[in-house]
Amino acid sequence: MQEKLKQMQGAAAEEIALCATLADLEQIRVKYLGKKGELTAILKMMGGLSAEERPVMGKVANDVREAIESGLEGASARLKEQEQAARLRTEQIDVTLPGQEVQLGHLHPLNLVLNEIKEIFLGMGYRIAEGPEVDTVFHNFDALNSPKDHPSRSTSDTFYITEDILLRTHTSTMQIRTMKQNKPPMRYISTGRCFRFDEVDATHSPMFHQVEGFVVDKGITMADLKGTLNLFAQRLFGSATQTKFRPHYFPFTEPSAEVDVTCFKCGGTGCRVCKGSGWIEILGCGMIHPNVLEECGIDPNEYSGFAFGMGLDRITMLKYEIDDIRHLFENDIRFIRQF
Ligand code: DAH
Repeated sequence: MQEKLKQMQGAAAEEIALCATLADLEQIRVKYLGKKGELTAILKMMGGLSAEERPVMGKVANDVREAIESGLEGASARLKEQEQAARLRTEQIDVTLPGQEVQLGHLHPLNLVLNEIKEIFLGMGYRIAEGPEVDTVFHNFDALNSPKDHPSRSTSDTFYITEDILLRTHTSTMQIRTMKQNKPPMRYISTGRCFRFDEVDATHSPMFHQVEGFVVDKGITMADLKGTLNLFAQRLFGSATQTKFRPHYFPFTEPSAEVDVTCFKCGGTGCRVCKGSGWIEILGCGMIHPNVLEECGIDPNEYSGFAFGMGLDRITMLKYEIDDIRHLFENDIRFIRQF
């Protein structure tokens, strides 16, 4: 039996030495020390030995068990170290490799110009008012002194949601909303989307953007309007810019005017941008009609005001020489990044 035990110890030591994985090592442990293992089987046979032989053989068996156990332990530590080293090798990260570049967005050209316009008017003490794109016929037409038979009211020009509710056709709605909610003196600009029943082409879109502005106070005159818009034009297009006020008609202003600026590209000599005329139309404006003030609860005998409205898309296209309005709404990042 002693012989057998010694042999077993040698065989186990050899297997342990050759073992290459922790899983294999576990199998070796089970083979010798498990419940049905070879050493266990021998220990069970101890019962049949004589009283003198039993302690002697017991000691030998114990020594063999300890030898196998310590062999297993040593191998286990060695294999764990090897496995960790292997894992560290495969999981190694080369921190000097170039990273994946994160693609940054870019401000849309409409926002670039809008930010400039806002800065100019904020600098003149204006506040910014915001209001809904879906509004009432009252805010969009009636309160703005628009005649009942004005062609812009027709369903072929305006998107109606019900008889009384529509998609605003201009930001002038915000004159009414803001004047009704505040008391003079008032200086506001308001900006946002507007909608008209237009076919899409290079210069038209059923959705577009406007910037509205107005001032109400005691003693406001056309001179204030001209001074304000002159300064605005010079800030936006350059200090050499001149303005020209042409008489026009809007239901909500009296008198009304359209404003042209000298071409910021050629300075007024004529080029592609101004179509050879030297001038570029940029907005509509006028003195707020007394009917509009009255509709908003402001006494036109005490107060007066001016208002103006401009197409943000048009001004952006002129400024950046964009030849098709559709570029502004396709959101192609390759286009947007150019500005
Ligand atoms: N609402 C006008 C339009 O959509 C633009 C406009 C003209 C606004 C004159 C004004 C103004 O405030 O005074 O064409």
